[in-house]
Amino acid sequence: MKHFLDIHKTDAADLRAMINSARAMKIARNDRPKGEPDDVQPLAGRMVALIFEKPSTRTRVSFDVGVRQMGGQTMVLSGKEMQLGHGETIADTARVLSRYVDLIMIRTYEEATLLEMAEHATVPVINGLTNRTHPCQIMADVMTYEEHRGPIAGRQVVWAGDGNNVCASFLHAAGQFGFDFTFTGPETLEPEDKFVGFARGKGSRVVMERDPLRAVQGADLVVTDTWVSMHDPESAKERRHNQLSPYQVNDALMAHAKPDALFMHCLPAHRNDEVTSAVMDGPHSVVFDEAENRLHAQKAVMRWCLGV
Ligand code: CP
Repeated sequence: MKHFLDIHKTDAADLRAMINSARAMKIARNDRPKGEPDDVQPLAGRMVALIFEKPSTRTRVSFDVGVRQMGGQTMVLSGKEMQLGHGETIADTARVLSRYVDLIMIRTYEEATLLEMAEHATVPVINGLTNRTHPCQIMADVMTYEEHRGPIAGRQVVWAGDGNNVCASFLHAAGQFGFDFTFTGPETLEPEDKFVGFARGKGSRVVMERDPLRAVQGADLVVTDTWVSMHDPESAKERRHNQLSPYQVNDALMAHAKPDALFMHCLPAHRNDEVTSAVMDGPHSVVFDEAENRLHAQKAVMRWCLGV
């Protein structure tokens, strides 16, 4: 069973093949007249369940569109409306869904929910974000970097702000794709040791740098994310803003990175909190390419899961 649960759990050669496949599908699709279906319909006759226990715009739409472009069909399910939200076990839900559908994508809170779903499903399961990681996002980000600047291996990626679930998947990618990673943010919001340890164990240079201006020197890519994640309590908001305001990505910070450095944000962004509008809409920013590439990268992930 080829589940796509996390970047560090997936073979590096397979990750590379998925990025290459995503790029090829994007080029092939963009070369076709608008409105014409893809030549290849590898998901024809397949049904994909997309389960959301948290809100989503990009993940929801890009998976739905991606399946349809490949000839498959989707059902978008909200956790609250399923019996899952009313006491049915995850294991039983996994067993039942496996009798109906060919692939399950789930966005959920606890990593344990994802893992239980994968353990009991007899069809592949894809991680569409948990409180701990967001691997599909980082597949799109690696693809986006390489589209603009060539191989990401050996590059310097700087994460500014909260060491959250997206940051964790970036650390996994640092190990698997061979780039270096600097985290700049408050000590209390550093990514967990196990994520850092994975990247270091694979040979990536990982640095914790409290000073954001020093952190971005020599950066090829500067990344940030919302200061308060979906699973953080509302009460954390004011404290987070106070802690993280020195790490806002603005023109002054970007001026210390390499002149051709890219800026990424997985979106949704809180403009003028973690990033200024000037940077979001400025020459370094590739945030909307990232959003588009969710579609192409996830198509490759689904094909890998299903072996089609
Ligand atoms: N980046 C991302 O996962 O966006 P959504 O929360 O809108 O799916």
